[in-house]
Amino acid sequence: MKIIGISGGGKNGNNDAMCREALKAAKEMGAEVEFIRLLDLDLKPCNGCVACVGKIMQGKNPQCIIKDDFPWLDEKILEADGVIFAMPIFEKGAPAVFKIIQDRFAGPSHDRGMLTVCRMISQKTGNEGPDARLFRDDKFLSFMSIGGSDWATRVSADMRLFALVPMWKTIDDKVFMWSKGIVTEDEKVQECHQVGVNMVKALKDPANAKFMGDPGVCPHCNSRNFYLENEAAKAVCEVCGIVGEIKVVDGKIKFEFPEEQLKHAHDTLSGKLIHVDDIKKNEGALAEAKKSAKYADRMAGYKTFLQASLPAGR
Ligand SMILES: Cc1cc2nc3c(=O)[nH]c(=O)nc-3n(C[C@H](O)[C@H](O)[C@H](O)COP(=O)(O)O)c2cc1C
Repeated sequence: MKIIGISGGGKNGNNDAMCREALKAAKEMGAEVEFIRLLDLDLKPCNGCVACVGKIMQGKNPQCIIKDDFPWLDEKILEADGVIFAMPIFEKGAPAVFKIIQDRFAGPSHDRGMLTVCRMISQKTGNEGPDARLFRDDKFLSFMSIGGSDWATRVSADMRLFALVPMWKTIDDKVFMWSKGIVTEDEKVQECHQVGVNMVKALKDPANAKFMGDPGVCPHCNSRNFYLENEAAKAVCEVCGIVGEIKVVDGKIKFEFPEEQLKHAHDTLSGKLIHVDDIKKNEGALAEAKKSAKYADRMAGYKTFLQASLPAGR
């Protein structure tokens, strides 16, 4: 059993420490553990080139073409049975370094819906297809985030998307507010220790593994984050995308939705395949637009209107 811990914090800071605490617990229970600090790595942001999507459409393994340490990290995540993330909370959400790996990992190239289509195409084209390890149903992720105040309302939704895209199960989702001194707060250290314990227990009995975090408000995915539109009666769960209604029942917030919404949920294969179809339609619309003189004229106009500025000497 291999568990890796990935910290997005500064060298030997709180996130490194709490990530190591969870890994210590996992090691005590017999797991092989490894610790990775994102800020030690050369990681470049996704530039939206969609080379991965091109490979998916040919049934090829959709590896990213950017040259940096991401392929090494990707392999570490793929070979692990469980991954524990510890991230500092920046501007209420996940830090930029987490978003970098999320865009590279949890974009189309590792999306279970996209990869299901890729695998079908590979059977026709004879290309190698996606990495089989991405289809594991016994792979678990846990998330811990640490902040210095109560500005922490977005981070859980940011992080949960990392598990939702490849359809791996989330075991723990801990948000530690007011926690600059976490290393000396015994109860919180114990909670981080428990994250390691829970991960090992889940891996030992994957069929019965369940979410151990805060029950939240969305009964489908336990999210606490919703998108509300002015004057609209509907609410959208920011994590699983289910559309329903927010009600107050006996003084408590409830999120209710019709049964048929479940097939649209973004953490289900049916929901993902609907999304793949939507993307196909949109990419098709763009490909059509690109053939037109209107597109070429407008794009040429924008380019000649104003060039992007650069620092002197570049
Ligand atoms: C750019 C920046 C933004 C931050 N934003 C928040 C925030 O919105 N909410 C919060 O609780 N803490 C915030 N903090 C505090 C960090 O979460 C805290 O310093 C971090 O957990 C320390 O992690 P480390 O010791 O592992 O490096 C911010 C810190 C920085 C540097």
